Amino acid sequence: MTKRLLKTLSGQGEKRRPVWFMRQAGRYLPEYRETRARAGSFLDLCYAPALAEEVTLQPLRRFELDAAILFADILLVPDALGQHVAFKEGEGPVLDPVRDDDGVGQLSMDRLHAHLEPVYETVDRLSSSLPADVTLIGFCGAPWTVATYMIEGGTSRDRRETKLAAWAAWQNENHWFNRLMELLIESSAAYLIRQVQAGAEVLQIFDTWASDLPEPLFEAFCIDPICGVVGKVREAYPDIPVIGFPRGGGAFAGRFCERIAPDGFGCDWGANLPAIRGDLGPEQVLQGNLDPLCLFHGGEGLDREVARIVRQTVAERHIFNLGHGILPETPIAHVERMLTQLRVAEDAEV
Ligand code: CP3
Repeated sequence: MTKRLLKTLSGQGEKRRPVWFMRQAGRYLPEYRETRARAGSFLDLCYAPALAEEVTLQPLRRFELDAAILFADILLVPDALGQHVAFKEGEGPVLDPVRDDDGVGQLSMDRLHAHLEPVYETVDRLSSSLPADVTLIGFCGAPWTVATYMIEGGTSRDRRETKLAAWAAWQNENHWFNRLMELLIESSAAYLIRQVQAGAEVLQIFDTWASDLPEPLFEAFCIDPICGVVGKVREAYPDIPVIGFPRGGGAFAGRFCERIAPDGFGCDWGANLPAIRGDLGPEQVLQGNLDPLCLFHGGEGLDREVARIVRQTVAERHIFNLGHGILPETPIAHVERMLTQLRVAEDAEV
């Protein structure tokens, strides 16, 4: 096996860590902005296989990375379920909110795969165009995070409507929110299975707003649904490596890993790496967790942070990454510096 990321995820990591970063294809790259302008809207880009393939490959031409992540978005699933999704310039995603039985009733999996066919085609193209040592990562949003966008109608300050629905559903299993979660579990698993069929080699599940959930809701609406998704995927593909990323959920990392047994655990920038290592034990592969704003800021502080992360993790059990997506304003030179410093720090450790 020549792929460093697959080796690490299967417990055969080496002294040189695999590295990739969240949102590595995106607006900080001028070539992305150029392709994006040619595509028209962001969604047009996601649904145009040749262009989505192109932007997935762009960061690999600049940087020595061990993985490519499929270019798509977590909100393609609600779009494919029939909820109208648009991305407004400078505003982010806009959806018609789902907030009752009727709203959930209007969603359907009937056209899921037909709608997502272009994404599967992107994966298929990438599986032959990627360099031989680069791993292809497929992904989806976790049901909780996707539900927040579906219920709030976009990005929101405190996910209030979603949390109120979650508390109601926690007490009453007939609540519409539970049906929405079931639908998201089914559709996300089906989506991931098709990505694997098309050539995805690793799957990452993004639970960006897991940070919203106190313990009982974290169990019910972060862990249970991800467990459902991963269980279905593993029934179809028992060996597919899965990285779980419950952002802001470090306090419940032990429980998350006990239930889901992810091959990799994604640490956000707020995670305390030695404490997480203590909770999860020496065998668990960790991913993360450089602060995207530290990368944006750059300088000698960046070097020190890279060195700290290297010092606090074990090379054979670590995937170097950011603690969340790279910011659009990040200077490319800082990314280069981070990658150089990673190898400097690793060499200093041995
Ligand atoms: O990581 C990658 O390079 C792969 C592609 C990818 C995108 N979004 C592309 C994208 C992935 C894995 C995502 C995941 C995603 N999308 C998440 C989970 C991770 C996270 O960042 O929290 C979430 C919450 C979304 C939803 C989403 N998509 C929002 C809220 C926005 C608007 C905010 C923004 O940054 O503009 C997007 C748009 C988006 N998704 C862009 C990209 C490159 C920017 C769109 C553009 O080009 O205008």
